Amino acid sequence: MAFSLPAALDSLAALNPLDALVEAVRCSPSAENAQPWRLTLQGGTLHLKHAALPEVAGPWAHETLLAAGTLHESLHLLAGARVTRQADWHAPEPRAPWQLTVHDVHAPVALPVLHELRQRQTNRHPFAQPAPSAPDLPPVLPQGPISLQVAAPAAAPAVVRALTTCEALRLAEPELQRRLFTHLRWTRGPVPPPDGIGLDTLHLPPGGGALLRWLGRGCRLRRLAPLGLCRLLALGGSWPLRRGATWVALCGPQAEDAAWDAGRTLLRLWLACQRLGLAVQPCYAGVDLPLRAQQGLTVGPAAHRALRAGQALAQAMGLPADRMLHLLLRVGHPTRIAARSGRRPTPSFLEVADPCSAPP
Ligand SMILES: Cc1cc2nc3c(=O)[nH]c(=O)nc-3n(C[C@H](O)[C@H](O)[C@H](O)COP(=O)(O)O)c2cc1C
Repeated sequence: MAFSLPAALDSLAALNPLDALVEAVRCSPSAENAQPWRLTLQGGTLHLKHAALPEVAGPWAHETLLAAGTLHESLHLLAGARVTRQADWHAPEPRAPWQLTVHDVHAPVALPVLHELRQRQTNRHPFAQPAPSAPDLPPVLPQGPISLQVAAPAAAPAVVRALTTCEALRLAEPELQRRLFTHLRWTRGPVPPPDGIGLDTLHLPPGGGALLRWLGRGCRLRRLAPLGLCRLLALGGSWPLRRGATWVALCGPQAEDAAWDAGRTLLRLWLACQRLGLAVQPCYAGVDLPLRAQQGLTVGPAAHRALRAGQALAQAMGLPADRMLHLLLRVGHPTRIAARSGRRPTPSFLEVADPCSAPP
């Protein structure tokens, strides 16, 4: 089967429904642009699961559930009720805890939505002053128990402080350092890297790319961490966050379904902001580091600091005590169009199964 996607947007109308669904999967956002998806086409049904890729979070991980939620929402916008989710959070390994199914893949889909999905992007550049005020943000219907919380402008410095602490802790953690350098893509040029974070999508000062590359060699960052380098790098990296940002929290109960619903809400909000010309950047460190400390993946003083930063963030965002922060977003008026991140080629994650075999 040939999957040939036209580059020009005006040719979207010529796209067949299956190609459009696959393209929606490719366009979906995922942490570190890992795109950990496996698609199986069987007859007229498309099955979508998590793919176990090296250095990528597992199918139960909070960041995976958020990304899978955005994927679910993308497919739902295209194919409506033909998209269903099966989930069993207590499934013993190696059974998959969740799966998405798109029925009747050759039936028409809402093609104009695909145009919007392809335009969506993460903007890591500084935003223009003044920051949009809460009434300037688009109204969005959250999924399930998720609610949206907009920080008061006076709380923005506390949000950035807590995020900077979490970023410094992330840079100092050996496992997260390894993941960072695994997912950074150094090549610039006409062919974008197919996954991971391309340097051209980051907001770096002159020489910033070379510094990152130098730090990634021979565990230099790990060796220099005790000298306070991580804090210094996090402070340097935080300056685009300090101006023009309105901070929006997606919060809800601490449960797998809620993380999934936060992902669905994230995509709705992202597209709605895009329609108003507003730029969006998810800032996950403020969720990830406190969560890792809670789960015992980080211990000692670093865990203590991560938990304190998480509490400071929750307080700055005005979260009720029984709500968990699922994702924090920076929203603002763009000063620059961001470079588009690469995507895996379709054949690397789509397989065609015999229609007579058992479903995957
Ligand atoms: C769960 C999740 C967490 C993310 N965390 C961050 C983050 O902390 N910082 C960031 O700049 N982008 C973050 N992103 C954005 C992804 O890096 C981005 O979606 C991916 O690289 C694809 O690029 P695109 O959004 O421009 O298509 C996150 C996305 C998701 C779904």
